[in-house]
Amino acid sequence: MHPKSILGKDVLLGCGNVFMPGAIVNANCTIHDFCIINTNSSLGHDGLMESYSSLAPSVCCGGNLYLGQFSAVSLGVNIINGIEIGRHSVIGAGSLVVESFGDNIVAYGSPAKIIRKRIIGEPYLSTSKKQSLSSLRNLQELRSNLSI
Ligand SMILES: CC(C)(COP(=O)(O)OP(=O)(O)OC[C@H]1O[C@@H](n2cnc3c(N)ncnc32)[C@H](O)[C@@H]1OP(=O)(O)O)[C@@H](O)C(=O)NCCC(=O)NCCS
Repeated sequence: MHPKSILGKDVLLGCGNVFMPGAIVNANCTIHDFCIINTNSSLGHDGLMESYSSLAPSVCCGGNLYLGQFSAVSLGVNIINGIEIGRHSVIGAGSLVVESFGDNIVAYGSPAKIIRKRIIGEPYLSTSKKQSLSSLRNLQELRSNLSI
């Protein structure tokens, strides 16, 4: 837990959770095991995150969110109050979520809509087209060539 993360009153925590700088968990939330609340993300009051679920950087959730096991909310998503998201689902970067979603879906947009089903075993956040391993390797090579 980073010292610049904040937990509200009566928050219940399981084990192995990660709170990055600027993470805020408001009153009466429950966070099960091995969840991530990433940089500058906030979970509204009475929210519940099941195990292995995550909020990417700069996610803003209204109160009473239910986030199912293994589900991932991507960069910069806003979620209004009272939303339920099932298990193994992904909300794409930059979305505005105004309705609940079930299990095993990818949804994004403003307002977010179901785009497709998730295939069991597919990576959660990497994209086939735009985030190739080779571009990651290029970054690592650039970094290793720096003289600082
Ligand atoms: C939701 C997501 C997983 C979808 O990945 P995907 O199914 O592999 O989608 P693709 O990259 O193949 O894109 C398919 C199309 O949807 C569009 N698209 C993808 N994600 C989108 C999003 N979040 N919002 C709007 N459009 C999106 C693409 O531009 C593409 O359009 P095109 O066919 O006209 O070119 C991915 O876009 C995403 O949001 N990843 C989040 C990454 C993240 O938050 N990382 C945090 C790490 S801490």
